[in-house]
Amino acid sequence: SASNKIKIVEVGPRDGLQNEKQVIPSEVKIELINKLSNVGLTAIEATSFVSPKWVPQMADARQVLTSITQKPNISYPVLAPNLKGLEAAIDAGAKEVAIFCAASETFNKKNTNCTLEESMERVKAIMDLAREKNVQIRGYISCVVGCPYEGPVSPKLVADISKRLLDMGCYEISLGDTIGVGTPGAIAKMLDEVLKVAPADKFAVHTHDTYGQALANILCSLDYGIRTFDSSIAGLGGCPYAPGAKGNVATEDVVYMLHGSGYDTGIDLKELIHIGDWISQKLGRPTGSRAGSALMLA
Ligand code: HMG
Ligand code: MG
Repeated sequence: SASNKIKIVEVGPRDGLQNEKQVIPSEVKIELINKLSNVGLTAIEATSFVSPKWVPQMADARQVLTSITQKPNISYPVLAPNLKGLEAAIDAGAKEVAIFCAASETFNKKNTNCTLEESMERVKAIMDLAREKNVQIRGYISCVVGCPYEGPVSPKLVADISKRLLDMGCYEISLGDTIGVGTPGAIAKMLDEVLKVAPADKFAVHTHDTYGQALANILCSLDYGIRTFDSSIAGLGGCPYAPGAKGNVATEDVVYMLHGSGYDTGIDLKELIHIGDWISQKLGRPTGSRAGSALMLA
């Protein structure tokens, strides 16, 4: 049976902040990542090397990645949508890069201005350089259960894309419920198909909490043997090309649930809560984490 060890990929500094309307000073982003590096996390998605015209908030990617204090036991993946992004990421010292595509043509077009087939071509080009430079590539698939433009998504399509990305050399696929519409029933149907193409240790589940289903979806995924989850400090987040998408599930809430259920994340929840409180104050809003607000009052 699957182990009780869980890997959390903290995506707050990237997925959490990319959608913020206010300009967040690079120093705040850097301090956030440095603080998160002290709580037991082993993966912190730092930033994205995307077009600054498309996502202005991430225009300081190089500044952020080169200024953080990187710890040897932590990976700091960054997003790249194309070869230009990969080159910039490598030039800034990235050792791990995440590529992304969507199981919906409309979303793929809105998010990356190309078709799914063109995305696959971009990934292929990225893989060649990544292999040469010894950079690990993680693959994201967005809209794995639903698309804001096209509605429900076929589990078979998600499985097919997963296989292609794994065959091209992605070490892991993060299955994104981009707009948080998934229910445990929908997640189960999706995982039933996806786990036909590769075992559970090749996948992560990436939830957004728009409909309040994220923790339930994580529990469901645990039953399927998934042991890697993406989450965001204080529940920050949203995708600028996914209207209505709320924050990622809050890391504090995930860790609280997992520890209470006998899983080991290696994360110090108390420290995490303080960081969630700190970044929420910096952004001038209450935390999006239920456990975070409860434990700050406790
Ligand atoms: P495009 O406009 O078709 O690109 O955008 P282009 O090749 O025509 O280039 C246009 C301009 O952008 C050029 O500059 C390029 O040099 C520049 P100009 O000559 O006009 O001055 N450019 C770049 N600059 C910096 N870094 C780059 C880069 N590439 C081109 N890498 C493109 C195509 C893919 C670039 C654009 O659509 C883009 O950047 N999209 C990213 C959108 C994004 O970041 N979305 C959020 C992340 S995905 C997400 O949140 C989902 C996830 O969390 C999982 C889930 O929840 O499902 C991962
Ligand atoms: Mg996301």
